[in-house]
Amino acid sequence: MRTPHTWTSASSALASAALVPVTLFLAGCARQTAPPPVPAKPAGAVITLNVPLGLPPLPVPGNNPLTRETMALGNKLYFSTALSKDGSISCASCHNPSLGFSDGQPVSTGVGGKKGGRNAPTVINAAYNSLQFWDGRAANLEAQASGPILNPVEMAHTAEGVVAKLSGDPEWKPLFAAAYGSPEVTMDRIAAAIAAFERTVLRGNSKFDRYQYGGDRNALSAAALRGLEIFKDKAKGNCAVCHTIEEKYALFTDNLFHNLGVGLNAEGELTDSGRHQVTEREGDQGAFRTPTLRNITETAPYMHDGSLKTLKEVIDFYVGGGNANPHRDKEIKSLSHLTQRDRTDLVAFLESLTGEGPHKEQK
Ligand code: HEC
Ligand code: HEC
Repeated sequence: MRTPHTWTSASSALASAALVPVTLFLAGCARQTAPPPVPAKPAGAVITLNVPLGLPPLPVPGNNPLTRETMALGNKLYFSTALSKDGSISCASCHNPSLGFSDGQPVSTGVGGKKGGRNAPTVINAAYNSLQFWDGRAANLEAQASGPILNPVEMAHTAEGVVAKLSGDPEWKPLFAAAYGSPEVTMDRIAAAIAAFERTVLRGNSKFDRYQYGGDRNALSAAALRGLEIFKDKAKGNCAVCHTIEEKYALFTDNLFHNLGVGLNAEGELTDSGRHQVTEREGDQGAFRTPTLRNITETAPYMHDGSLKTLKEVIDFYVGGGNANPHRDKEIKSLSHLTQRDRTDLVAFLESLTGEGPHKEQK
């Protein structure tokens, strides 16, 4: 099946582009001398972002430090429909700030109404993901960002097309010049700037964080507080074994891949092999990356296929022990011992995880 941001060809193109200037890459061997590569190194002053309460220090790669200018350029690119072939879709169409940076649909719709096979995950706190996508097929945000632009099911554009479109529009040149010291538009610069912006899409300082890390004993309701205990208790909810809570911060993900049995068909077969598509390891059949639970109230429907509509449906799914299949994770088992109140307390806890960013994203 074709999954969104199919990465094989795009990633190798980007890898080559990192070594060879894009122009040479496109012109082939006809050219005698290669033009000097256009650096995607930020030109402005490097800044450190203060992350909201409950998050660890922000990991930023050495070759793409944050500057105000790259973040501003990335912000504008993220909301620009110029990145899609027919000018109809931006990153924000599927990762919409008012829908928790996702799209409210079970699976996403791209250019020309084409449907992908998976639910759009939130971009919130994606800066902390050790691998990107439900199956972890992209190493980082830089590698991820040009994927959707070139994906035929998503923005359906070409690298030459995007570069030509932005280069021909006088609005963009000063922004690229401010960010990188020269006005050239390249895919590497586009990807780096979008990644810089995405690193600012953070959420923390929720009621949970104010209770757990801020010393505010009254921040959580009684129900949410009981829910937190059930969430952590191995003999009760056993949720934190995968949706981790650390001593000084909580990302609610172990950044690992697990099979819960989501997406079985009527015959009980997996309809999406998930992580197995990347590793081809038998044990990875139907395994998907543990998603963050931050701002989870905003990002329904849930799971990699968007098959569960509400948090109550998610809890019921876990109470039933997921869907039995030969690869189901050993930590997923029936939770029928949870009382009705335990179940509503878990939902109250999940609702306490909606927090705020370090600043407001501009549109
Ligand atoms: C047509 C809808 C659509 C568009 C447009 C789109 N995305 Fe996505 N995005 C998705 C889907 C669906 C996935 C999950 C695909 C998968 O895991 O196989 C995804 C995954 C991601 C992820 C990985 C998050 C995670 O937790 O693994 C990031 C980051 C992301 N997109 C950023 C972007 C950026 C930046 C753009 C614009 C350049 C963009 N997306 C455009 C639908 C879209
Ligand atoms: C074995 C690891 C594991 C355990 C234990 C676990 N989860 Fe998950 N959780 C996952 C994975 C992996 C997914 C995505 C599965 C998929 O889409 O196929 C997920 C998805 C979710 C989602 C949907 C998130 C989204 O953005 O779509 C919620 C909510 C959730 N889990 C809450 C819980 C709660 C509450 C518990 C405890 C009752 C729990 N989880 C226990 C690994 C786990």
